[in-house]
Amino acid sequence: MNVSDLIDSRAKELLSANRRKRFYGELAETESMLRMSLNENVLIDKSFSNTLLQEVAKRIDARRYPSAKGGTALKAISEYIGAWEDQIIVGNGSDEIIELAAKVFVGGGEAIVVSPTFEMYKFYVSVNRGIVCESLLNEGFDLSASEVLSEVNERTKAIFICSPNNPTGKQFSRDEVLRVVEDSDRLVVLDEAYVDFAPYSLTREATKYNNLLILRTFSKAFGLAGLRIGYGVGDSEMIEWLRAAQSPFSVNSVAQEMCKIVLENRRVYESFVNKVKEERKYLLAELQMINGIKTFDSDANFILFRVIGGERRSEDVAKRLMAAGIEVRDRGGLPMLSNCLRVTVADWTSDQKFVKELEKAMREPQ
Ligand SMILES: Cc1ncc(COP(=O)(O)O)c(C=O)c1O
Repeated sequence: MNVSDLIDSRAKELLSANRRKRFYGELAETESMLRMSLNENVLIDKSFSNTLLQEVAKRIDARRYPSAKGGTALKAISEYIGAWEDQIIVGNGSDEIIELAAKVFVGGGEAIVVSPTFEMYKFYVSVNRGIVCESLLNEGFDLSASEVLSEVNERTKAIFICSPNNPTGKQFSRDEVLRVVEDSDRLVVLDEAYVDFAPYSLTREATKYNNLLILRTFSKAFGLAGLRIGYGVGDSEMIEWLRAAQSPFSVNSVAQEMCKIVLENRRVYESFVNKVKEERKYLLAELQMINGIKTFDSDANFILFRVIGGERRSEDVAKRLMAAGIEVRDRGGLPMLSNCLRVTVADWTSDQKFVKELEKAMREPQ
């Protein structure tokens, strides 16, 4: 028997594209490769972070299973955002909670994904046998509640919105998002992974509605992408259903304890976030000076830009940068984003290197 005969045909169809082209490639940041493609936060002082990790090592007992509900992390997050512990689910990255929402609340039904956006909503809904309907943003990459609401039908189970949106970078208007929550009568998953870099958060609204699930992560502002910890906030009954489908020990003890310690040091992390915002301003200004580049404003730790005014394609620019040792994300294949690329805001030296190589790439004959 072939291994592939063990998979039913629908699953095979869903997974085969991913098997050919893994979402995140090899993930190698070596000395010769600068990774500016995953929106990690390298402006966090690594030695500060490692000092906290050493303290974590003293506190945990790796021989024991971690607390099932998130333990010290759950308590710390509850105090941080001002919600009860039963209104919070801690996950192995916010990715895990996206998948749980797809599994529990969408299942084989339909989900509206406000697009172009983070690809994992589509992925998790699809691998859990759901159907994705994309609702496009308007020309200025803003959310139109009327547009989204017009796509809701009797099969719609959930609506996924990312704000600030990855990869466009913009945070949507609070009123438009809340109108979708209030008028759709469906689960709204609002992913605020990048909200710490943006003007406002709707996290406090999550517990006022019974159909709003807000996702946050420690991977971005707190630089814990490698430890995998994120959380969802919402109505306690919704959280209970999500927890019912979660693997018991999905969040490891290092991540749980580190989460508590970074929140104790939140003022220091706020200063790192301010650095990102400063660096974003600088990078945006530099990009705006390059001929043939159009930039989009960002409320996140990345910038979307478009290659314009010629035959040059974003794919070629990404390849050219890769050859120079810089990895960015070509987003040109997403709806509305022809010829667009996304670059993560990094430290000044890396940003300079990127700008220099992009300038060179844009000067080369097409
Ligand atoms: C919009 C968005 N949501 C969620 C995630 C996943 O975050 P986590 O590391 O918490 O799984 C990402 C990662 O890049 C993201 O861009």
